Amino acid sequence: MVIYQNISLKPYNTFGIDVKAAQFVEVNTVEEVQVLCTTFNLSERNKLIIGGGSNILLTKDFDGMVIKMNLKGMDAIKEDQNHVWVKAMCGEPWHEFVQYCVAKNLSGVENLSLIPGCVGAAPMQNIGAYGVEIKDSFEELFAIEIESGKLVKFTNAECKFGYRESVFKHEHKNKFIIVAVTFKLSKDPKPNTSYGAIQEVLKQKGIEQPSIKDVSEAVIAIRQSKLPDPKVLGNSGSFFKNPEIPLAQFEKLKLEHPSIPGYPVGTENIKVPAGWLIEQCGWKGKKVGNTGSHKDQALVLVNYGDATGNEIYQLALAIQASVQESFGITIHPEVNLI
Ligand code: EPU
Repeated sequence: MVIYQNISLKPYNTFGIDVKAAQFVEVNTVEEVQVLCTTFNLSERNKLIIGGGSNILLTKDFDGMVIKMNLKGMDAIKEDQNHVWVKAMCGEPWHEFVQYCVAKNLSGVENLSLIPGCVGAAPMQNIGAYGVEIKDSFEELFAIEIESGKLVKFTNAECKFGYRESVFKHEHKNKFIIVAVTFKLSKDPKPNTSYGAIQEVLKQKGIEQPSIKDVSEAVIAIRQSKLPDPKVLGNSGSFFKNPEIPLAQFEKLKLEHPSIPGYPVGTENIKVPAGWLIEQCGWKGKKVGNTGSHKDQALVLVNYGDATGNEIYQLALAIQASVQESFGITIHPEVNLI
């Protein structure tokens, strides 16, 4: 394990922001993580733990230690008549884990194809797309407690998953490093095609009884058609979360904006697509200096070249202010601002 000084983080964040880390270390094993926690007294240090770097906006040089999780490996560890349990180490790219499951015809994560990032980051914000979240197939995870270096297990209930939420963004923030995640996948494929866009792709291809692979390929096609590839155009996926507003406020807005989309959350709240709100405010496809809101999906902010993190942050603030002014709705970043 080598600790480097003054390293550029540009290759380690999908926005492609060029800031420096005072210290940088890559860890490859659970033992190395434990050594860092105990010998290097990590709990007392300013630290940033990264996987794929796909959900962060770096706004300035990081005056502390950046730890890149590089633990690899995926295995089927248990099986019964209906399920297979697959354990994946935190540094595995998320999509490679999905492909592993799809290739074995195991169902549960196919709708989450092509989401950037690593396995270890997925539970942090209960990643989700096209009607599915990881909490639906998550069994348990293993994490190192930073203060003690001990390996601790968390069950699904203990992670307190919500919409882009988990216990690791709240009471356990900065207290644990996730090292491995186990998923319970189904051998009896029941594809979730509730999302309209998936149905459209399958219909176009004339597929009536889709396999797990068909659904995965449909999701890949949808994502590639409207989400920019971070390797080509720096971005962090959805920049904001979709806000939930009270039903009464939604009804009132609907009188003024009859086309406003909304999805019920329980009986009292409505989730409104932030992408729609941002588009209505005129930001979609708009370029501001080196940054802007993407032309095919307004919720995605992009780096057209040499944008600084602060430039993107300023754009986010301007978008937030105009959505507030036009709709009286506060949108919150999904991306972590560092
Ligand atoms: N919309 C617009 N204009 C836009 C974008 C969206 O009007 O520019 C409206 C449309 O009404 C559309 C609706 O928003 O029907 C929903 O759009 P979309 O299906 O693209 O989904 P989203 O709500 O914008 C969420 C996730 C995505 C995930 C998709 C698909 C959040 C914050 N984002 O986006 O996740 O891929 O659903 O399920 O929940 C990510 O988290 O990085 C991410 C990409």
